Amino acid sequence: MQEILKIKSIKAEEILASNGKPTLKVEVFLENGISQKFKVPIGTSKGKKEAKEIRDNNPNYFLGLGVKKAIKNIKEVIEPKLVGENVFLQDKIDQILIELDGTKDKSKLGANALIGVSAASLKAASKAKKMPLWKYVSQIYNFSPKIPGFLMNFVNGGKHSFSPLKFQEYLFVIEGKIKVLERLNLAYFVFEKLKEKVKMLGVKGIGVGDEGGIVFPFKDEKLPLKILNEIISSLPPLTSHYSLPLLGLDFAASSFYKNGFYETSSKNLTSQEMLKYILEITKKFNLFYLEDPFCEDDFESFKKLNLETKNFNFPSFVVGDDLTVTNETLIEKAGKMKAISGVIIKPNQIGTISETIKAIKMAQKLNLKIIVSHRSGETEDNFLADFAVGVGSDFSKMGGICRGERIVKYNRIIEIENEIQSI
Ligand code: PGA
Ligand code: ZN
Repeated sequence: MQEILKIKSIKAEEILASNGKPTLKVEVFLENGISQKFKVPIGTSKGKKEAKEIRDNNPNYFLGLGVKKAIKNIKEVIEPKLVGENVFLQDKIDQILIELDGTKDKSKLGANALIGVSAASLKAASKAKKMPLWKYVSQIYNFSPKIPGFLMNFVNGGKHSFSPLKFQEYLFVIEGKIKVLERLNLAYFVFEKLKEKVKMLGVKGIGVGDEGGIVFPFKDEKLPLKILNEIISSLPPLTSHYSLPLLGLDFAASSFYKNGFYETSSKNLTSQEMLKYILEITKKFNLFYLEDPFCEDDFESFKKLNLETKNFNFPSFVVGDDLTVTNETLIEKAGKMKAISGVIIKPNQIGTISETIKAIKMAQKLNLKIIVSHRSGETEDNFLADFAVGVGSDFSKMGGICRGERIVKYNRIIEIENEIQSI
């Protein structure tokens, strides 16, 4: 028998995300007095096929970015329909949200309003069951929970900083059986070494970008890879059973694709030349992870790269983010045509929890690596840590070892590791 606990009310307020932009805090109250909040993250380098946020467009208020309309949609349209619904029926709650919106891209009520309500309901249900969120997610959706590998961000370029670098994210892949604190120890070591090395190049002040990596002061996109590889080879044996980290990149290539060319630091490249360039740096720097290496419409180039990487004598994954936008249909297309070997999952790209779960299930069916990811505009909500563990993701992207809104997620993973072990 399905237990019943009804939603009593929903509250939504305007707060700020880590980049100073307004976002929503949504709180779902249940009939037994329990309530839970979710704070909605914001993307900066968004895919054009993502579900759409609603913003107020009043230029005198946060330059048009206010979210009062989205809040009004929750109060006037969503709350009246969800009051009285059973919080344990997440799929039904999400179905009501999808039908109330009625558009393909959630542009009527706003993906920011929808994911706020959807995720806050999920959190409230897990609280009511007195279960940690990761456990609740794994139980209701039938996943094997696990601590994912980390894709940690050390250099921020592209739209995530004022660095002249075109590539958006330089990542360390830290995985294996090592404990979370040991991984973070390693990350801290790398971060400090990186700052030292960049200072040695004559730079006085080093800032951090949106996701906690440094703002690299030079435009040569190969230089951070060279420096990071030097750091890898100088790492001390920190633990006995520890595998050395590998490097990865989120190119976010749509952001420097202009008029049919990829505008790299040295020259403008055609898709074919870009493919050659990516293969060259992947081999030279042993890149394990290649996210959005081409623009978001170019499934064919993804496919060519994915095929080529299979010939390497080290593992290298081609991953879709803007290409697939947590959309089940796009993931199916990319997976079936073998354009990707991994996929980014961001709940606010699609707008509800159950659609996010469908995207993950599709990716699992197609044997794709699953990478649960933060957004560049984050909040102090630690939801993502539980979600990444609960769905049994292979990797998580939660930022660098810097900036509070990233650190809360790592701190939650430390707790979850203990919770999993004590079961
Ligand atoms: P975002 O991008 O700025 O849209 O969050 C992050 C990413 O591309 O992975
Ligand atoms: Zn990305």
